[in-house]
Parts: sequence; C-alpha cells; structure tokens
Amino acid sequence: MILKIVKYPDPVLSRPGEPITEFNDELRKLVADMFETTYASQGIGLAAPQVGVSKRLTVVDLSVGKVPEDKLVLINPEIIFSDGKLYEEEGCLSFPDIREKVVRHAKVRIRAQDEKGKWFEMDGEDVLSRCFQHEIDHVDGMLFIFRMSALKRDLVQRKIRKLIREDKW
Ligand code: NI
Repeated sequence: MILKIVKYPDPVLSRPGEPITEFNDELRKLVADMFETTYASQGIGLAAPQVGVSKRLTVVDLSVGKVPEDKLVLINPEIIFSDGKLYEEEGCLSFPDIREKVVRHAKVRIRAQDEKGKWFEMDGEDVLSRCFQHEIDHVDGMLFIFRMSALKRDLVQRKIRKLIREDKW
C-alpha cells in the first residue's frame, strides 16, 4: 500500500521517533508499505516519521527497487563511527523539488536492528553514507534544511511559505 508522505512543516517530522520494541507482522507490513511508497516516489530512502509514524525506523534502497540485495531496513539505527566530509546536493521526499548542498560525513558505520530484531553493523561511503545520515536524522527529528547554512535555509523556508500560500505545496 502506498502511504501518504508528510511534508514539511508537519510537526511529526521534527519529533524524535519512539524506539521500536516489537518485531511483529504490523512492523513488517509498515516496512513493506514504506518500500512501496519510496519506489512510487523514485526515492532512495524514507523514514517512518515521513509517513506520519513517529518511530525509529527507516528504509533505504539506492537501487530504487532494482537490486533486491540493496534493500535495507534500519530499526533503532545509530551512527557509531564517522569520518571525512562530503558537500553534495541532497533532496528529501518531505521537501518536493528542493535540492541543496549539505555537509555530511564521507564514511559512517551504523548499528541497527533488522525486521526480526537482530542487531547488525554496516559501513557506508559516499551516497550510502549520506543516505544513512539523512535517514537517521529523520528518526531523530532532524531535517536536512537544518544542516544547510542559515542563509540557504531562510531562502528555502521562504520559498515553501510562498508555495503554501499559493496552495502549491
Ligand atoms: Ni528526507
């Protein structure tokens, strides 16, 4: 089922998600729906708060559904190591058509649980590293506009306010 993606400035996006403690069918259904929603929007990652669910869960798939092994489910994820710097353009499904450069770590190691509750660690570089950081920010209630310079953020927020006024957001 394709879920409705919540857009900024919905408050659910700024709220830290609750830890997940039950690894049941309801969770697996949410994960499946989140992948379907991500692919329908041609995205590479989606976090639960973006579908209005304030939980520490995100799905990532750099292949956008083309390579089954690229499907990653990160539950209660955290960054345990980071190194280097990247400054690349990023977008977010909760900010349609907005792309801006954001500073990120070039490499990260994350720790997360899978759909069955098993803990694992994984390294990410470049795009995967950025995606991990962007999505883990979401489960912490942090949005990419707050990683931009104050000047850029102000421009983006003004643009969004204008679009909201014109009923185009
Ligand atoms: Ni996002």
